[in-house]
Amino acid sequence: MARIYSRITGTGAALPARAVSNGELARDLAKRGVETSDEWIVARTGIRQRYLAEEGLTTTELGARAAEAALAASGAPASSVDLIVVATSTPDHIFPSTACLIQARLGIAGGAAFDVQAVCSGFVYGMTVADALIRTGVYRRALVIGAELFSRILDWNDRTTCVLFGDGAGAVVLEAANEPGVLASRLHADGSQAQILCTAGRIAQGGVQGDPFLRMDGQAVFKLAVGVLDSSAREVLADAGMDATQIDWLIPHQANVRILNATAKKLGLSEDKVVVTVERHGNTSAASVPLALDDAVRAGRIRRGQHLMLQGVGGGFTWGSVLVRF
Ligand code: ACO
Repeated sequence: MARIYSRITGTGAALPARAVSNGELARDLAKRGVETSDEWIVARTGIRQRYLAEEGLTTTELGARAAEAALAASGAPASSVDLIVVATSTPDHIFPSTACLIQARLGIAGGAAFDVQAVCSGFVYGMTVADALIRTGVYRRALVIGAELFSRILDWNDRTTCVLFGDGAGAVVLEAANEPGVLASRLHADGSQAQILCTAGRIAQGGVQGDPFLRMDGQAVFKLAVGVLDSSAREVLADAGMDATQIDWLIPHQANVRILNATAKKLGLSEDKVVVTVERHGNTSAASVPLALDDAVRAGRIRRGQHLMLQGVGGGFTWGSVLVRF
């Protein structure tokens, strides 16, 4: 029997209507007595603006819009989707999953739908799971969606975190094919580092117990992120029998331009091979990789047949890479 692979046939994205520049954010934060500046944010992170959701916008709605754009790009009808995997750490409810809510919003039913929770690594986790399920031959067409409203879990009095994140969603249609597609992928986690990036609160007894805000040890995250992005890229290249010179585009999680450039340097790649959208989107956690992918595809930079290294790293601590022939 011929082997089954999975390949990306469409990409899509969705952002809230309102872009907030560093200057605007600094002015808003100053009203609360929180001091920051455009200069500090740009120098330390490369971020110049982020999109922040209006009240009432949901993760489901943003994710569904990205999914619709990906379906339109692939030419596939929503009714043909038999698997929805949503990567999110900011779901609309504890349950049901955002994937089920997006399924209903797309007007379909019957296929599998579930969320994966791997914070900023969520999209590469989702891609790996969907690829594996498609390769079983049981599922034919998946939507893999990263959708986040991190603005809802930010402490706007904590300048070390609130300037870094934004809201958004990105999606791909991943479907069964005779040729890859996904060439190799690897996922990792080290739960002993859970405390360096977490939102530890929980809902119990009718209220929130513990801290409901995102907390981060920025320097610890920075050090770990650069090391694991390099090692996991090398690991999937070896699995695919390729080397770094064959990567056309590196698309790492968009946390910080210094992390992106340090990763490229370690891999011996020039900075013009790195897709960078963090300056416009901020860190959108699980949405950042599919947002960056869609941005570069729609700009005509990424072309069919090129090799893409998609990389996630984030809370858990989690990390992983997916090597794709587009
Ligand atoms: N505006 C102005 N000053 C600030 C701000 C701010 N928003 N935030 C912190 N500062 C100050 C600090 O108070 C400190 O002042 P002090 O020296 O008087 O004490 C000074 O700036 C330096 O603070 P550091 O935390 O040491 O700054 P650092 O150079 O480490 O940069 C940053 C912080 C950008 C978070 C960095 O550690 C980093 O990039 N970490 C990677 C983590 C990351 O990007 N995480 C995103 C989520 S994780 C993920 O997605 C994988």
